[in-house]
Amino acid sequence: MAKKAFITGIAGQDGSYLAEYLLSLGYEVHGIIRRNSVTEHQQSRLEKIAPHVHDVYGDVLDVGSLTKIIFQIKPDEIYNIAAQSHVRISFDVPQYTVMTNALGVLNVLEVIRQNSPQSKMYQASSSEMFGNSIDSDGYQRETTPMQPTSPYGCAKVFGYNIVHNYRKSYGLFASNGILFNHESPRRAANFVSTKIIKAAIRIKQGQQKTLELGELDSKRDWGHSRDYVRAMHAILQHSVADDFVIATGESHSVREFCQVAFNMLGLNYEEYVWINPKFFRPEELMVLRGDATKARKQLGWEPVVTFTKLIEEMMDEFLREMKVA
Ligand code: GDD
Repeated sequence: MAKKAFITGIAGQDGSYLAEYLLSLGYEVHGIIRRNSVTEHQQSRLEKIAPHVHDVYGDVLDVGSLTKIIFQIKPDEIYNIAAQSHVRISFDVPQYTVMTNALGVLNVLEVIRQNSPQSKMYQASSSEMFGNSIDSDGYQRETTPMQPTSPYGCAKVFGYNIVHNYRKSYGLFASNGILFNHESPRRAANFVSTKIIKAAIRIKQGQQKTLELGELDSKRDWGHSRDYVRAMHAILQHSVADDFVIATGESHSVREFCQVAFNMLGLNYEEYVWINPKFFRPEELMVLRGDATKARKQLGWEPVVTFTKLIEEMMDEFLREMKVA
């Protein structure tokens, strides 16, 4: 019999890649989609696989909808990927962010505990939990202290800890993937990767004159979502529930990202990129660089897509989409 997976946030970047990956492995895939007032494009990332996934409206804040699905399906694996995922916006809507990213995790765990305790659960934890805490060798790893610098990061720390608590208290198989930044052509337009590449294309096409950004000297460890969803699955196939950092180990600044993306179009970013304080965060996380040695050794996980390849793939896809007639 096919294994059953249930994904919260299935219509997002990671949810859609994960659904595709699990379908390719023969899973029966279920998921919930949060209702949004704009119906257009809400399920666009699932278009290719729509006939093969079972998706319904639901929300991690709506315990009734979670209970109904988890009780009925009794999934083998539950992936909690739903979140308010934008760090800067978490300063605008801190309470909503905490409800979704912290209480939402507890809701999923409680529903599992009461209705399907044999289900394994993956929690989408984040490198944002580390904040500006960094080991003396310049990396963040599973043992690095957490000092979050945003409501988003604070809420994710709660999610991470409550997973531990339910693992130890009730023996649930609940694991954290501590994922560093991961992008793809499915990344939404208000994350810096997509924002930079789409702006560079519009500038090249003569449709935009400048690009306004916030902090240019913060550094991120950027991988590809397609590589990272393989890690999510591997984490739940491990013999015991545990926590794993998932990262490339390479760190690049936002400035370098601009340089590489604009260069690909034969442009010098310095002529077009302006700083607008509107995009600064009240507190910025300056450096992320993950050490994924534990995942490499214990899960056999390796990222395939490099920083430049990631930008190339996003550029190629956006150039196709944005072709001027
Ligand atoms: N979004 C955005 N927009 N970021 C900007 C801008 C801008 O105009 N200008 C500079 N930046 C800087 C941000 O200040 C940050 O230092 C960096 O670009 C990356 O920002 P994002 O792409 O918004 O990602 P993030 O690092 O804040 O958060 C992402 O990674 C986390 C893992 O570390 C998200 O995917 C989170 O959900 C994820 O947990």
